[in-house]
Amino acid sequence: MVHFIIVGLLTVASTWYLVTFVFTPENLLPAPASAQAIPIDRLFVIQWFFMAFFLSLIVVFIVYSAVVFRKKKGDTSAGKHFEGNTPLEIAWTLLPLLIVFYAAYEGGVTLEEVERQELEPLVVNVIASQWKWRFEYPEEGIVSEELILLDGKQAVLNLQSTDVIHSFWVPEFRVKQDVLPGGDAFAKQLRITPNQIGDFTIRCAELCGTLHYSMVAEVEVMSKNEYNLWVTEAGECTKSDVECGQELASTYACTACHSIDGSAVVGPTWLDLYGNSVTLADGSTVTADEEYLVESIIKPNVKIHEGFAPDVMIQTFGDDLTEQQITQIVEYIKSLSE
Ligand code: CUA
Repeated sequence: MVHFIIVGLLTVASTWYLVTFVFTPENLLPAPASAQAIPIDRLFVIQWFFMAFFLSLIVVFIVYSAVVFRKKKGDTSAGKHFEGNTPLEIAWTLLPLLIVFYAAYEGGVTLEEVERQELEPLVVNVIASQWKWRFEYPEEGIVSEELILLDGKQAVLNLQSTDVIHSFWVPEFRVKQDVLPGGDAFAKQLRITPNQIGDFTIRCAELCGTLHYSMVAEVEVMSKNEYNLWVTEAGECTKSDVECGQELASTYACTACHSIDGSAVVGPTWLDLYGNSVTLADGSTVTADEEYLVESIIKPNVKIHEGFAPDVMIQTFGDDLTEQQITQIVEYIKSLSE
């Protein structure tokens, strides 16, 4: 009997330690910042409690038995033989069964809560590409490098990839979604209702190539007033063509593949490209003038630069960018030549 009391007390102490560990927030996850995080954290704590209890029970039993009932010197007798224990067998069948049903119930309730749709959400199209995030606000006509969300307002993110599988993850929001290539048929939705004003970081949570680690973007959760201000300012580029082109090259991830320092990345460098002669894959040469640059942006496969592969570059810039935006990017490329 005394053994059971000791094992019981040790199990309670161990469970208590593990449970309080998870309630000390800095030990595990960053502070939650969305309405979806509340039910998710609740479910996490419930599951953690059961895991802490059963882990403690098993480990304490094994360690206690191994130490206290170890073979003593000079003792050659065999252990006492016993067979079957009906009440115990019923208990360890029924109890886990009930826990599984309870876990299924709590899981269902949480999922329903996390996927709940609110009226008139903020719609944002999220486009992932190696190794960059782009955020489009179709209702406002804005394309941004930073994700801007409204405090207390549900956002619907329509996620698509232009190349490989990426994954949208903001730890403070708790929810995560893989982003798939393949067009509208493979578009995924994610609903987030931020409830904290502040800055957070999006991380790509799917290994997606060489620069996967650097595929991060900022999220800023704003009040309604700040948001309105941002919408008026972000709508149009009012700077010089070269500066607007530089911003576009960053927003559309051009410079992820085309370096501006002369190094060859995925595509040819932009440094000293304009005005110089380019050798093509078929051996012929062309001069990189405005016409050539525009054509290479809109129809990248027509003239392939020697040493680089076709079909690597996104083929839809002609539809995604306005004529003015393409001119601005070309102006920026021109500014990189002496
Ligand atoms: Cu995109 Cu990892």
